[in-house]
Amino acid sequence: CGIVGILGKAPVAEQLVDSLKRLEYRGYDSAGVATLEGDHLERRRAEGKLKNLEKRLDAEPLKGHTGIGHTRWATHGKPTENNAHPHATDRVAVVHNGIIENFRELREALEKKGTVFKTETDTEIVLHLVDSFLQKGIKPVEAVRAALSELRGAFALGFIFAGDDDLMIGARNGPPLAIGHGDGEMYLGSDAIALGPFTDTISYLEDGDWAVLTRKGATIYDKTNAIVHRDAVKHSASTSLVDKANYRHFMAKEIHEQPEVVGHTLARYIDMASERVMLPVKLPFDFKDIQRISITACGTASYAGYVAKYWFERLARIPVELDVASEFRYREAPLRKGDLAIFISQSGETADTLAALRYAKAEGVHTLSVVNVPTSTIARESETVLQTLAGPEIGVASTKAFTCQLMVLASLAVAAGKARGELSDEDETKLVHGLVEIPRLMAAALTLEPQIEKLARDISKSKDVLYLGRGTSYPLALEGALKLKEISYIHAEGYAAGELKHGPIALIDETMPVVVIAPYDRVFEKTVSNMQEVAARGGNIILMTDAKGAAEATVDSLVTIVLPDMASAFTPMVYAVPVQLLAYHTAVVMGTDVDQPRNLAKSVTVE
Ligand code: G6P
Repeated sequence: CGIVGILGKAPVAEQLVDSLKRLEYRGYDSAGVATLEGDHLERRRAEGKLKNLEKRLDAEPLKGHTGIGHTRWATHGKPTENNAHPHATDRVAVVHNGIIENFRELREALEKKGTVFKTETDTEIVLHLVDSFLQKGIKPVEAVRAALSELRGAFALGFIFAGDDDLMIGARNGPPLAIGHGDGEMYLGSDAIALGPFTDTISYLEDGDWAVLTRKGATIYDKTNAIVHRDAVKHSASTSLVDKANYRHFMAKEIHEQPEVVGHTLARYIDMASERVMLPVKLPFDFKDIQRISITACGTASYAGYVAKYWFERLARIPVELDVASEFRYREAPLRKGDLAIFISQSGETADTLAALRYAKAEGVHTLSVVNVPTSTIARESETVLQTLAGPEIGVASTKAFTCQLMVLASLAVAAGKARGELSDEDETKLVHGLVEIPRLMAAALTLEPQIEKLARDISKSKDVLYLGRGTSYPLALEGALKLKEISYIHAEGYAAGELKHGPIALIDETMPVVVIAPYDRVFEKTVSNMQEVAARGGNIILMTDAKGAAEATVDSLVTIVLPDMASAFTPMVYAVPVQLLAYHTAVVMGTDVDQPRNLAKSVTVE
């Protein structure tokens, strides 16, 4: 979904819609605009495509020079006109991307004080929170500041206020938000693409920033409410649909987009109001009848499948076989009719994966694909398609598609556990809570970037790097090693931590860094023993863990990267972030072609 805002010199409704059209590529199912008409706020909203909104505006035009617009991708509440943004009271109108995690608590608190909610959205809580401060006579800027301090989640917001024609406020905590600088006009937008027709001068808000815009310019505050400077960068007028924003590489942009796109994917598979997994399609089989799942994919997608194996086995008690597609297609694996084969592919065009799908179909099993490109061959040929909503992934080394694949697979594993009676309603609610937190935790993991950037300088001096993990962290160790070798050309290997003593321990000396991925979970202690084995041989360890793990891991030669605490079983989505950042920054130090590493292709359509 997308946000746009304009403080203009002429009526802005048409420009708002033009800008929303440029955000269509992000997907949406309803849209709306709000403008200041004299002293009061007016809205036009419509279900479905932007042409419906245009019809509404033709019938009842808006003339205001100050306005905000939004394309909505339903998360909390159906894509109806009533749930469409902007949401407004007499005093304030708001547009919102992302998820407010604590909306229930906040809503209950306000309802107790008599606030009546009119929609099912989590956005409405932002509206009423700000409005409650305005009603007390607090000025808009202070009201937003106070409201922001109460919100938890990953979100981008835009506000305008009745009675103040020269004020717009934007806030970013996760999903991107950009400020456009015009000549006596100012803009707010989800990205530079949205603002392309109006200005080529853009400042990107950083995470935790919020900005107060007037026609003269913007004052930007960081998360501590201190005034900060954010550079204004020039964009070419013809900002294309795939744009690097202010990142040096697509890969960096795609790593940073993850809280947003994983949030989108989450919203497609979870009904946040009922806290249940809700698949967007009806499955043509019952998980109760599935005796075995076979998962097939290539490269990074196969590691997403490997993580999912742990989830399906643990949550749904279904045995899973995992294969890389190039092996599966010729292995002549016997498949039982009526069982399930899952294929995972970003592009949906990978030749080996496609061939494996065709083999499975011929064997008479149900085929389900997790793909990012819904028009792709694999999507077209699969019985069931579950789409990842990562958006276009340009960097050859997959990042955001991987974490979105994990989100789909996690949801599916919970659905399977539920269908088979392995999970109770309570278990499901708990697991869903865990999933809902992921975008915010990923955003928190991104703040570790400066530390990881420093570590990358050391890693870049190595010839070989070992990655270790247990449980779901094991496939992530494989993915970490793959990412590093793909883009930095440094040799790396991923190993199950327990296998260390069966071979790779022979390689360990002070020249080979060992990256250990170990959230504080039920196998943490075991991994600590493996770290001790490394330390005893002079190895240098980089430990990715949480606060508890960092406190417990008493090992020499240790650098710890401390991730946020997580209650759930879904740590790989969050731990993927430092793993990706480490590979990325190492490649930057090495000076390689990060987005198009040598010899590699984004989509491998040959055997
Ligand atoms: C190529 C890419 C990898 C990707 C793999 C599978 O090797 O470089 O990043 O993981 O293909 O691609 P797919 O589109 O099927 O996910």
